[in-house]
Amino acid sequence: MRKAIIGGTGVYGIDENPRKETVSTPYGSVDIDIVTFKEEEIIFLARHGKKHSVPPHLINYRANMKALEILGVKWIYATAAVGSCNEDFAPGDLVIIKDFLDFTKNRPVTFFEGGEEPVCHVDMTSPYCPMLRDKFITFSKQEQISIKGEGVYVCTEGPRFESHQEIRMYKNLGGDVVGMTNIPEVIFAKELGMCYATIGMISNWCTGMQQDPIALHDIETALGNNKELLSHAFMT
Ligand code: HPA
Repeated sequence: MRKAIIGGTGVYGIDENPRKETVSTPYGSVDIDIVTFKEEEIIFLARHGKKHSVPPHLINYRANMKALEILGVKWIYATAAVGSCNEDFAPGDLVIIKDFLDFTKNRPVTFFEGGEEPVCHVDMTSPYCPMLRDKFITFSKQEQISIKGEGVYVCTEGPRFESHQEIRMYKNLGGDVVGMTNIPEVIFAKELGMCYATIGMISNWCTGMQQDPIALHDIETALGNNKELLSHAFMT
């Protein structure tokens, strides 16, 4: 049983000198790092590529998740940079994702495409693994990492940011944080029988929550501090 970390925006590696491997899958090949921590091998995958060159709507989610399955991964902690549309969660805060609202439009949504494959309607009662979420909460308490709360993740298609009115709608529907990548990642994890949890790193207020427009540069700066902390928490 192996563990993996999927690093989102701002998290492109967890070790200076990892072993590198390329994994071939039916959907394309995937570059990953392997890091040894306390005699255990941890897989690291940079969701947008090491140089943040793949935008959210073009990420090869199926290849990424299939590669992790081929490597024997059963537990995944993912980080996700998110905007906040909940006044209680401010930039710099960490939030555990507890559910999602899917507003994506143009992505492959399943491994089961009919034909030779069986039809599969995967259960979404607990999309985010309660066991991994609890483990992370316990560790955070021990290490005094402040978790602001649990939140509902709204996934948009991107790569554009949202309009003011869209954010009002997501907020009214029960969304707390907004990002562009958790769908279909969490769905594929479920289809592959993996435990998957996401820690949302709040990088900005969503459109209209404050005066200033959002910039990717600000997002990456906001994530810098939390990166080390999270990598350590996930590997322990
Ligand atoms: N909207 C969508 N995705 C994001 C945001 C946002 O405000 N911040 C970081 N990822």
